[in-house]
Amino acid sequence: MEDKIVVITGANSGIGKAAATKFANEGYTVVMACRNLERSKSAQQEIIDATKNPHIDLLQLDISSFQSIRQFSTVLKDKYPKLDILIHNAAYLNHGEKNYLLSQDGIELSFATNTVGPFLLTRQVVSMLEKSEDARVLHACTTNIRHFFEPKRTIEFDNLQGEFKNERPFKTYKFYGDTKMALLLMTFKMADELKKQRISVNAVQIPAIKLSKETINKFQSGWRFAARIQNAFSAPRETMADTYFHICTSEEFKNVTGKLINDKRKVMEPSHYSKGLTQDIKQLMDQNVYPKYADDPENIEKVWDLCVSLTSNPVSRV
Ligand SMILES: NC(=O)c1ccc[n+]([C@@H]2O[C@H](COP(=O)([O-])OP(=O)(O)OC[C@H]3O[C@@H](n4cnc5c(N)ncnc54)[C@H](OP(=O)(O)O)[C@@H]3O)[C@@H](O)[C@H]2O)c1
Repeated sequence: MEDKIVVITGANSGIGKAAATKFANEGYTVVMACRNLERSKSAQQEIIDATKNPHIDLLQLDISSFQSIRQFSTVLKDKYPKLDILIHNAAYLNHGEKNYLLSQDGIELSFATNTVGPFLLTRQVVSMLEKSEDARVLHACTTNIRHFFEPKRTIEFDNLQGEFKNERPFKTYKFYGDTKMALLLMTFKMADELKKQRISVNAVQIPAIKLSKETINKFQSGWRFAARIQNAFSAPRETMADTYFHICTSEEFKNVTGKLINDKRKVMEPSHYSKGLTQDIKQLMDQNVYPKYADDPENIEKVWDLCVSLTSNPVSRV
């Protein structure tokens, strides 16, 4: 399997590290795409020691930065002849953050990290994915998107570059949900765009999974306690790592593209619930459906056009 190459973003901690370990155990060549090489070297060594797989590479990638994505893609193309699996696992969510943070490219940081970065990275490495017999791209989505009850909740499209940072208070969890919903909408369109090249693109809906100590320590103080409580009821990271692996390697998902898949490995469908509190609650509880909002072609096109226009300046054009 060592000739099968998988790139996992944010592979130095949490689910990403567990997934890197899983693929390493199965004999894959794993490229850990991480923003801080110093912090990530120990994770790389741990994985090599635990799995006895020496083919664990570590490359620098800040997925919120266009420049870093371009550099990473160049290095990847120089080192490897093709790419089989690309897992967009890295994400930004800083519970309790009250300020709008903008990426180097002037995009609200969670939108840059969780949506626009994955969009640009996939487009940068399409030529490598095309060389795989069975190329699969996976986006890490979240149950948070289930809060998109129509018609109340929409993505804050007019504020994704912090246009209203002086007027609207920053709500980190709300922004996180917006950017993961945008990621799902982008998944659908990316899957259509890459069908001709036989590259599959899916998203996985992740429920509460145990957070690492490092991640909890990044949260603002009041939130750390809540996160520790939630951790007690959360599933182990390895269960989600196994699910990433299954979606990206199994025969079952070989010809599946443009879908949201839940943690029970079932392909989800757009919600059939109508408006109203009871219907909203049913939608929230139903693990097999996602909000109608994600099934609206207008929303899909809006996200796509925004990703294209933000990444289409002369320097980052792909
Ligand atoms: N755990 C859950 O309950 C849960 C629930 C729903 C969805 N998810 C999703 O699952 C995925 C993994 O989450 P996790 O719980 O494993 O969190 P985590 O341990 O905090 O992992 C996040 C990873 O993303 C990396 N990252 C953040 N910003 C980055 C950037 N700009 N460039 C490159 N890497 C960056 C982090 O690197 P650093 O170490 O350098 O910060 C870290 O390795 C995320 O997409 C998350 O949204 C998780």
